[in-house]
Amino acid sequence: MTKLSVNINKIATIRNARGGDIPNVLETAMNCELFGAQGITVHPRPDGRHIRYSDVYAIRPKITTEFNIEGYPSESFLSLVKEVKPHQVTLVPDPPEALTSNAGWDTVKHADFLKRVISELKEQGIRTSIFVDTNEKNIIHAKETGTDRIELYTEPYAIMYPENQYEAVRPFVLAAEIAVSLGLGVNAGHDLSLENLTYFAKQVPGLLEVSIGHALISDALYYGLENTIQMYLGTLK
Ligand code: PXP
Repeated sequence: MTKLSVNINKIATIRNARGGDIPNVLETAMNCELFGAQGITVHPRPDGRHIRYSDVYAIRPKITTEFNIEGYPSESFLSLVKEVKPHQVTLVPDPPEALTSNAGWDTVKHADFLKRVISELKEQGIRTSIFVDTNEKNIIHAKETGTDRIELYTEPYAIMYPENQYEAVRPFVLAAEIAVSLGLGVNAGHDLSLENLTYFAKQVPGLLEVSIGHALISDALYYGLENTIQMYLGTLK
């Protein structure tokens, strides 16, 4: 079964809006696990506008499922993850000022950089995943970086899904087939939601994990966090 990792950045965004400690990010992470999530994802950015480095240190010892830290591999990010040693690090190519991740790696252009970073992380016993689009060239060259997994960037799927599910998912099915044939694990994330997740998880072979933040936290405003997590888990069954 595909694992659900809840991205809790939005909880930190709400907390930061007031400068206090409501809602409490650590408590939310622990509750997500209690309610059935199989992982917690955070994406600390250099400006600390949502998850802060201090949150990452606080969450690490309390996590009993899988802790996934996403980010651009800057010097400070790499020092953080080498110290914290999460189960998985997902490398994203977005510049510090990006609103959210909006593209995958060009795994040809950045091959040497990715190889170096991935080997440093693997020396620390950390599983790696790299964020990529469905372009065949990027998947094939992802394998050469030494990464354990790829995370498919699903925004294009989410955009096309309402008008044509089949066409929307097709590139993801092909990309996942290539990845699996190369021995790469397949994760996915970005703009996945209660509406579009069932079909995606059914169609894409070998899907190990989805990381979902924006839609899930927004749904929790209406359904509550526990119900919402159960609903997402239901779509993955
Ligand atoms: N995967 C990556 C690499 C991301 O940067 C994000 C957003 O932080 C997500 C998944 C989750 O996307 P969403 O918040 O749209 O569910």
